[in-house]
Amino acid sequence: MSDHSNIERIFREEPVPAHILEHMEELRRQGKIVPDARLIKRPSHIEGIRKAGAVNTAVLDAVAEKIHEGMSTQEIDDIVVAVTHEHGGICAPYHFEGYPKSVCTSINEEVCHGIPARHRKLHSGDIVNVDCTTILDGYYADASRMFMIGSVSPQRKRLVEETMKCLEAGIEAAQPWNTVGDIGYAVSQYAKKLGYSVVRDLGGHGVGIGFHEDPFVAHVGKKGAGMVLVPGMVITIEPMINAGGASVVIDAYNDWTIYTKDGKDSAQWEHTILITETGNEILTY
Ligand code: MF3
Ligand code: CO
Ligand code: CO
Repeated sequence: MSDHSNIERIFREEPVPAHILEHMEELRRQGKIVPDARLIKRPSHIEGIRKAGAVNTAVLDAVAEKIHEGMSTQEIDDIVVAVTHEHGGICAPYHFEGYPKSVCTSINEEVCHGIPARHRKLHSGDIVNVDCTTILDGYYADASRMFMIGSVSPQRKRLVEETMKCLEAGIEAAQPWNTVGDIGYAVSQYAKKLGYSVVRDLGGHGVGIGFHEDPFVAHVGKKGAGMVLVPGMVITIEPMINAGGASVVIDAYNDWTIYTKDGKDSAQWEHTILITETGNEILTY
């Protein structure tokens, strides 16, 4: 044995609180899927993700201010790059798994991962999702919003507004000690009542220290199924809601852009959500 009293004491990473570890252990014994401790963010991580979220919000606010009929989706990319860099951040999509641009811009029947281009202009009547992931000091925040260009049909306006309600229903279900399945259940129940369908092939994800962490957050699901939501987890909820069927196809030329198979419209909203001991907090407001 040695005497530690002379060794300098430092503070490194705060441990996960014992009462949370105990509750997790109890649920594990009951056969629930509980996250690896690495998915539970510590206060220092949460602070970093919160700051990345503030920059992400500033970037989407700048897009909201400048987006207009006739502009190209490349110009949206230019704004996202400029504002992100002004705030000292990095655009996570750029060169992520070969992705060529810094943001995703998905119009009408494009479900997600639309690639900005000089030739792709926004027309009156279009609905467009702008999905922005920001890295600040190594921490990630991921959010997207819908924008309506010029005069949009009542059907498209309804899809955009109700898809936001789907996200809100998912956030409401993202309570501590609920499960990922509760989120999917809430989103899909809300969408079903309206006659919309929910994309199944893509979903939300853990986020914060990496771009896409566990768990996969499906927007369909059974109550109580899947991974338990433990305080300290940070996930995205990002429902892709289709006016027609749920089936999607991928662009064989770029291997990124996802479209509805039936060519009908799709909308999406996304937030980065921290699970707390009393509820949750949106880190991308
Ligand atoms: N931001 C998207 C998401 O919500 C992922 C985009 S990957 C990219 O998960 F490479 F296309 F940017
Ligand atoms: Co995103
Ligand atoms: Co995401």
